[in-house]
Amino acid sequence: MSAAIVAKGLGKVYPGSRSALPALADLSLEVPSGGVYGLIGRNGAGKTTFVRIAATQLNPTSGELRVLGYDVEGEERAIRARIACVPQESRPLYFLRVEEVIYTYLKMRGLPPTDARRRTHDVLEELSLTEYRRRLVSRLSGGLRRRTICAMVLASDADVLFLDEPTTGLDPLARREVWEAIRRASRENRTILLTTHYLDEAEALSRRLALVERGRLMLEGSPADLRGRVRYPYRVTVQGRLGRADLEPYGKVSDIEGGYLVFTGESEARELARRALEVGAHLTIGPVSLEDIFLDVVGRSIEEETSPSTESAEGEEAGA
Ligand SMILES: Nc1ncnc2c1ncn2[C@@H]1O[C@H](COP(=O)(O)OP(=O)(O)OP(=O)(O)O)[C@@H](O)[C@H]1O
Ligand SMILES: [Mg+2]
Repeated sequence: MSAAIVAKGLGKVYPGSRSALPALADLSLEVPSGGVYGLIGRNGAGKTTFVRIAATQLNPTSGELRVLGYDVEGEERAIRARIACVPQESRPLYFLRVEEVIYTYLKMRGLPPTDARRRTHDVLEELSLTEYRRRLVSRLSGGLRRRTICAMVLASDADVLFLDEPTTGLDPLARREVWEAIRRASRENRTILLTTHYLDEAEALSRRLALVERGRLMLEGSPADLRGRVRYPYRVTVQGRLGRADLEPYGKVSDIEGGYLVFTGESEARELARRALEVGAHLTIGPVSLEDIFLDVVGRSIEEETSPSTESAEGEEAGA
């Protein structure tokens, strides 16, 4: 499978930036063609910077980035014709109506009128916007405006879609409709680079994921790969009978309502389950969630940041 986006040693320092840290530092990754690729990381990690460089809105300071084989520096035109972008912050044209803004966008991208009309109709249905189709964009609520931008981009025929926090501010029903539209677009063999703070969303949609922290790539792979890369791939909750001291030998213990949460390895999880059953404690057991992995990896990075004597862990081995 060829890669749709290839970054090699990508670096970005914003002009005039006083921060000691670059926005991106030596970031290399490959986004395979087709399907959803999730980009996650805390605020300021560098996700939007990456998306803006890939969408040819911003030049990198160092390194190389290719989209569909074209260089973001020098082949912007070829890239722009093949991509569509939901920026983190954006406003569709205020003076148009919802259906007009979608139709106009598709026409501007070069779709024939009948095709643009059909796609507009379908996406309005898909994202439950039909009842608002005649409403002026300036009169929409924030969430409906966001949905309109998602509709424009998801209805397009672009080969690569950049969705920078597309579902922020959407109600839970609308979020799921956007998920379905993203899935539909990915089935059309298009590549979707998705950034999101909703880790359930990242997990539900992404074939592969990259976790970025302070401009660096910390973990990369399929959700199963990421689990395989961390020290504690299981989460066990224990309520009653067993105390913190009983649990600490098994892994990392934290308090939860009415008991404890233990992050642990596979054989330790089995051993702990046996012990809990013996003493009659209430137990749940399962693989760690993406959120657990995120909190652990990012938590360790913050600890390293605040204790400079510790050697910093970099790259794919930085797992929990
Ligand atoms: N236009 C800019 N000028 C100077 N610094 C910037 C600019 N845009 C972003 N930065 C800085 O670059 C770093 C990465 O920011 P970026 O917006 O890429 O993060 P992000 O991962 O998208 O965060 P968020 O989750 O909050 O959207 C941050 O330190 C930020 O302050
Ligand atoms: Mg951002």
